[in-house]
Amino acid sequence: MSKRYTITSALPYANGPIHIGHLAGVYIPADIYARYLRRKGEDVLFVGGSDEHGIPVTIRAKKESTTAQAIVDRYHEQIKSTFEELGITFDIYDRTSSKHHHKNAADFFMNLYEKGIFEEAVTEQYYDEEAGEFLADRYIIGECPNCGNPDAYGDQCEVCGTTLSPSELINPRSALSGNKPVLRKTKNWSLPLDQYEDFLRAWAVEEHKGDWKSNVLGQVKSWLDDGLKPRAMTRDLDWGVQVPLDDAAGKVLYVWFDAPIGYISATQKWAEENGKDWKPYWQDESTELIHFIGKDNIVFHCVIFPVMLKAHGDYILPTNVPANEFLNLENDKISTSRNHAVWAHEYVEDFPGKQDVLRFVLTANMPETKDNNFTWKDFQTKNNSELVGILGNFFNRVMVLTDKYYEGKVPEASATFEELKDLHQFPKRIGVYLEKFEFRNALAEFMNLARLGNQFLQAQEPWKKIKTEPEKVPAIMNAAAQIVALLAQTAEPFLPNAADKMLSILGLEKSNWNDLITADRYIHAGHQINKSELLFEKIEDEAIENQLNKLKETKLKNKMTNPNAKPEKEECTFDDFQKIDMRVGTILEAKKVEKADKLLELKVDTGIDVRTIVSGIAESFSPEEVIGKKCTVLVNLAPRKIRGVESQGMLLFTDKPDGKLTFVNPEDEVENGSQIV
Ligand code: MF3
Ligand code: ZN
Repeated sequence: MSKRYTITSALPYANGPIHIGHLAGVYIPADIYARYLRRKGEDVLFVGGSDEHGIPVTIRAKKESTTAQAIVDRYHEQIKSTFEELGITFDIYDRTSSKHHHKNAADFFMNLYEKGIFEEAVTEQYYDEEAGEFLADRYIIGECPNCGNPDAYGDQCEVCGTTLSPSELINPRSALSGNKPVLRKTKNWSLPLDQYEDFLRAWAVEEHKGDWKSNVLGQVKSWLDDGLKPRAMTRDLDWGVQVPLDDAAGKVLYVWFDAPIGYISATQKWAEENGKDWKPYWQDESTELIHFIGKDNIVFHCVIFPVMLKAHGDYILPTNVPANEFLNLENDKISTSRNHAVWAHEYVEDFPGKQDVLRFVLTANMPETKDNNFTWKDFQTKNNSELVGILGNFFNRVMVLTDKYYEGKVPEASATFEELKDLHQFPKRIGVYLEKFEFRNALAEFMNLARLGNQFLQAQEPWKKIKTEPEKVPAIMNAAAQIVALLAQTAEPFLPNAADKMLSILGLEKSNWNDLITADRYIHAGHQINKSELLFEKIEDEAIENQLNKLKETKLKNKMTNPNAKPEKEECTFDDFQKIDMRVGTILEAKKVEKADKLLELKVDTGIDVRTIVSGIAESFSPEEVIGKKCTVLVNLAPRKIRGVESQGMLLFTDKPDGKLTFVNPEDEVENGSQIV
């Protein structure tokens, strides 16, 4: 009887590409696990998809002047095809912006609502009266109370890194209109997590203390020890799953409420498309539900989602949540905003046909129990000395010698070898490791088999014996063929492309993994082997240097030589810039503006004309100081009245470290009216 497994992998946000940290943390372990279980003949459903809601999507859409749907359409397709290229074998790759998911998530919400699970909470939230919208934390900008950055966000200051809440910002303004937001009351629905503390303790901490990873248990415990609070499951936003209640116009489900339900929606879609029943995969107690995630997702998969499932009542709870830690790159945190990453889609382009190499290196360095590191040098070494030097080399030697001595026919085994009598222990041990989510150990065990093969050949030296004791060679080459065949049978979870190649060269079908453990032969005497080809090729220094240079260039680009410099403004187009007309001019007259400490009224010769400009520079200069000065003038700024005086342009200044202003002028003497281009 096969066992049923529902394997989920965190749905990546469809607002940017994925990088090697995502792969090593979530998708490669999940795929290894799914492939292994399928090879055991288990009933496996491996679910993936895009998480398409959430504020980052809307922000990105606004920035690019497009719609949220257009953003998620783009990244959903890109991420999906990158996964395909890397051989991640999802049974379905769904998306949360789909109709069927919206309905399913809304139904789930209503189920809890009708059971009276939610608490209604009225709170005061910032509201933009001009835009007519409540403002998510990211949409509120103001001065950072910690470092004075004038453009800190309501959730974080990106200059000093402090976590903030909108109420801490000094002079908050709306990112939508620039206006001061007002506080307005709003009703939302909360999940009373605090009422589920006993359940969580009994289930997550007690029941699973023997089988869950300690990093996962540790986080759950610390959440529980800190005490859980009710958490709002609805938000005042327009992008997301609409809250299916009459008094909830303009509200959507919290993205972390709808996204994990996406796993269930995906299962339903898969079942419908394949003529199956979805329910056993989520509702049958004998099903193993396994969530593959990164450590930043632990609370959502071990606290919030289980509470949702429990409150609903029809669902099973996860059997295990083998969360991984983070992967660093060249000893530095991977960062999307700094572009310090190896992007999966770029890897696939830069290293065509080398998907297995990346899978191999990321598995060998998987951040299973603590953060781990990826370096390009190590990538090269692992490829050249392990894949090429050990696995590829052994496979190739056996193929070449068998071809040469026996025209590709596996010879008879006339003797056995003590050191090879426990070959079946390898698939067994690999399986035991995989079932414990110890992917690095499993891969090491697989490589030990290849090492054993190399050592065996080295010790037996069939290339010498063929001349001195040729009668002994058939048994040696038969034994070597057994190892090669077993490697071909066990490679798939780690190296799916190489596994296919090995099996097809050997002319073997995939065996059931359980049969590998009980078998005493993996390939028969007399079996004809096909023409061989190399499994792996060396990676040259140049390819590695190219990658390192790519990283170096982004580092240079990101290096702030002045930590006080304000963050770069939003991108403008060349056309935007072309609209701006700046000229060199001379200040002819200057006087103070009455009752305005900061303002000087100036007469400026722009070369085009002589005009009046009001400028906020009186705290830095006296009128006498500026008369006769050369200056830079923005001449085509729309005129506006300042203190009753019409100002027809703007002068350019910059700050000195003491806070005083200084003119921005060309080095050499130029005529008034010269254009700045
Ligand atoms: N999009 C989330 C992240 O990348 C993961 C969502 S997992 C799900 O962190 F369960 F909510 F779908
Ligand atoms: Zn700050």
